[in-house]
Amino acid sequence: MANTKSIHGEWSSRFAYILAATGSAVGLGNIWKFPYITGENGGGAFVLVYLACVLAIGIPIMIAETMMGRRGRQSPINTLTTLSAEAGAHKSWHYLGWMGVIAGMLILSYYSVIAGWANAYVFKAIFGGFSADAVEVKATFDDFIASPMQLVFWHTLFMIATMSVVMRGVKGGLEKAVQLLMPTLLGLLILLVAYAMSTGEAYFQGLAFLFSPDFSEIDGDAILTAMGHAFFTLGLGMGAIMVYGSYLPSGVSIVKTSLYIAGADTIVALLAGIAIFPLVFANGLEPGSGPGLIFQTLPIAFGNMTGGWLFGILFFVLLVFAALTSSISLIEPVVAWLVENKGYSRVKASVMSGVATWAVGVTVALSFNEWSDFTIFGKTIFNFLDYLTANLMLPIGGFCIAVFAAWIMHDKHVRAELDIPEQQYMLWKYLASYVAPAAVFLVFLQVLGVL
Ligand code: PHE
Repeated sequence: MANTKSIHGEWSSRFAYILAATGSAVGLGNIWKFPYITGENGGGAFVLVYLACVLAIGIPIMIAETMMGRRGRQSPINTLTTLSAEAGAHKSWHYLGWMGVIAGMLILSYYSVIAGWANAYVFKAIFGGFSADAVEVKATFDDFIASPMQLVFWHTLFMIATMSVVMRGVKGGLEKAVQLLMPTLLGLLILLVAYAMSTGEAYFQGLAFLFSPDFSEIDGDAILTAMGHAFFTLGLGMGAIMVYGSYLPSGVSIVKTSLYIAGADTIVALLAGIAIFPLVFANGLEPGSGPGLIFQTLPIAFGNMTGGWLFGILFFVLLVFAALTSSISLIEPVVAWLVENKGYSRVKASVMSGVATWAVGVTVALSFNEWSDFTIFGKTIFNFLDYLTANLMLPIGGFCIAVFAAWIMHDKHVRAELDIPEQQYMLWKYLASYVAPAAVFLVFLQVLGVL
């Protein structure tokens, strides 16, 4: 099996895979979500827990998940069926693939709404320019999310964009787009960091907020959020990197590529934090302002700096593209499954899964305005879906992936895929067998109040 190819095609090179997988990892999670949840959870200590989770849980699971994809060479659901047969394990493991498919669609339903905000801000940047005044910038944002029509419109547009890329398959638009976008995004973030440095005192306040840990600021739920975010930002636990791994040519090192991807993802998140918190403090904003944080801070920077008009446009355009390279990986597992099992064309599979996801997204858009009083377990639809997927489904999915790779698969098959020196293999095996699953388990126990 090790030499078979996916029916959906393969990445044209190792570099193309790294770009695509980095595109999946780097997205709204880094630039929109990381800053606002860090702000809500008190800063430094939260960042430290998140970084520890990336290292001890995220990277070993990323290696496990990619390895399973490349060995199975199909959509996550069918990959799990094949791999459990190969290992002589019960076939109910394929439900893990189903959980991932559902998680991916639920994440995309709200991801698309937020990507829609970024898209709307491109137009705000072009036509209005941004005001240099924090109060005005906040008012613009509040007016915007109060409008169901606008949110649904931009959400719809983003879903159409996602599905039109997915229709074309893995190589088509995707590979090319990422090659240019990722480096430019990085350049702009560095520019924003440079701007943040010009805020003087506030710059150091921002850095202190991000990097000096105060553990009294965090509780069990904050730790769960940090762990959930490690999964979310690396794109783990739902089959996205598994399906990308299934298009990975044999012979490419899974361990090395995983380290690059996790490294790039972490750098982008930290840069975003370093760019944003100085602005928060310089303008007397609340770090815990929630999902609107970047939309209430970055425009101020663009409003103030020379050339800000152009940079503002460029930044939000790139943010939309960063979101797009993630959104396609969220929906690819179900599309691949529909093609494999139902014999649909990619176009039909994309339209069907896209419409279903879009419909859920409409309820998310409304949860910011018309339906903001409607709650599930005390959370708005947006908050509920975010909590359910990032804090519960992804860690549970990741836990099962680690267990499957380390305990169920035959050692010789795993070794054949990973193809690394013995010591490195033993390290991975130890992390995937014990450390990662135990850590996820302990965090859950703690949140449940058992510990
Ligand atoms: N990693 C993406 C981000 O940070 C989101 C994502 C989650 C992508 C899960 C794939 C799977 O924006």
